[in-house]
Amino acid sequence: MPVPFLDLKIQYRQIREEIEKELAEVLETCNYVLGPKVAAFEDRFAGIAGTRHCIAVSSGTAAVHLMIWASDLPSGSGIIVPPNTFTASAEGIVLAGHIPVFVDVERSTLNLSPQRVEELLRSASAGGRPLDPKTGAEIRGILAVDLYGQPAALPELERIAREYDLVLFEDACQAHDASRDGRPAGSFGDAAAFSFYPGKNLGAFGEGGAVTTDSDELAARVRSLRDHGSREKYYYEFIGHNYRMTAFQGAVLGVKVKYITTWNDRRIAAAGLYRELLDGLPLTLPVEAGDVRHVYHLYAVHTPERDELQKHLGELNIASGLHYPLPLHVQKAYSHLGYGKGDFPISEWNSSCNITLPMFPDITKEQQETVAEGLKAFFAGR
Ligand SMILES: Cc1ncc(COP(=O)(O)O)c(C=O)c1O
Repeated sequence: MPVPFLDLKIQYRQIREEIEKELAEVLETCNYVLGPKVAAFEDRFAGIAGTRHCIAVSSGTAAVHLMIWASDLPSGSGIIVPPNTFTASAEGIVLAGHIPVFVDVERSTLNLSPQRVEELLRSASAGGRPLDPKTGAEIRGILAVDLYGQPAALPELERIAREYDLVLFEDACQAHDASRDGRPAGSFGDAAAFSFYPGKNLGAFGEGGAVTTDSDELAARVRSLRDHGSREKYYYEFIGHNYRMTAFQGAVLGVKVKYITTWNDRRIAAAGLYRELLDGLPLTLPVEAGDVRHVYHLYAVHTPERDELQKHLGELNIASGLHYPLPLHVQKAYSHLGYGKGDFPISEWNSSCNITLPMFPDITKEQQETVAEGLKAFFAGR
């Protein structure tokens, strides 16, 4: 039986009538950009993120860029970020005029290591504001990523950010409705970014994203910057951008957001079944850190024989992914920062050994068993 990486068609069939009704309303009003559907979704999603504000935008990349841009740090500030993430986390830093300062992740969760962050800040401080040892930039921020759907060690990072007077950003693009210590992903630090790319746990029918924050000031700036730096049409306070969400995406997300908790509960159950089925295989399985709701956007396992394993699964028509095959510090796009191979061993280990298995709310027991049998057959032949 072929097993897809994710199946969006099953989900669509379950909510088709509601979605079509909402889309038809948009068509009737001919109100295609922002508008009441987007505003209603913003209200609902602020409830999921546990924040006073949610500002819907055109993509997760726009959300990362906007939250950093709106925080108004001096140009050329250093912002700590893990290398073990999708490029948009660091891209948003660069687009906002700042400098990524890479710090390695924890071996267990693969999220930014507060211990490594603190070590860097301590050694780079010399009495004044910490300076990035690579570029000399003054470090003024931390951007933590909730990788694979598990919130980073954000309470600890909040403490560090307070101590060193840093702005803390959360890239929650993979972690809708996740939580840590009872606090929702999206509610930590100064602001958070979400992506609603179709394959995300909460996915639009196209591109979409959002910034969540409790700060009235930051929210007002993000709202203005997403719409050319204006609060009133044709009057501009800043140079902004066109990062508005379209009404169709607001309409789709307004329906789907009602189901996110149920869908994530099913992902969590599927992760539990994988844990049972894969028990005893020579694979590193995902580790949950303490009191978290890990929403398994991706189910990543690790083996040094990753490439051979992926080939074997491919021959059995079992889809898999690599998230991510090359960490950012050794990507060409970031070569100007001066990092090299060996700088971040855990991120490098993750890139060379991770493989992500099929995971979506409607994955069946039979599909998971097929994946597990494929894995067992591979290791039996070793
Ligand atoms: C961690 C992370 N940050 C940012 C993004 C960017 O989101 P988008 O693809 O919606 O621009 C993604 C999406 O893949 C992501 O996974």
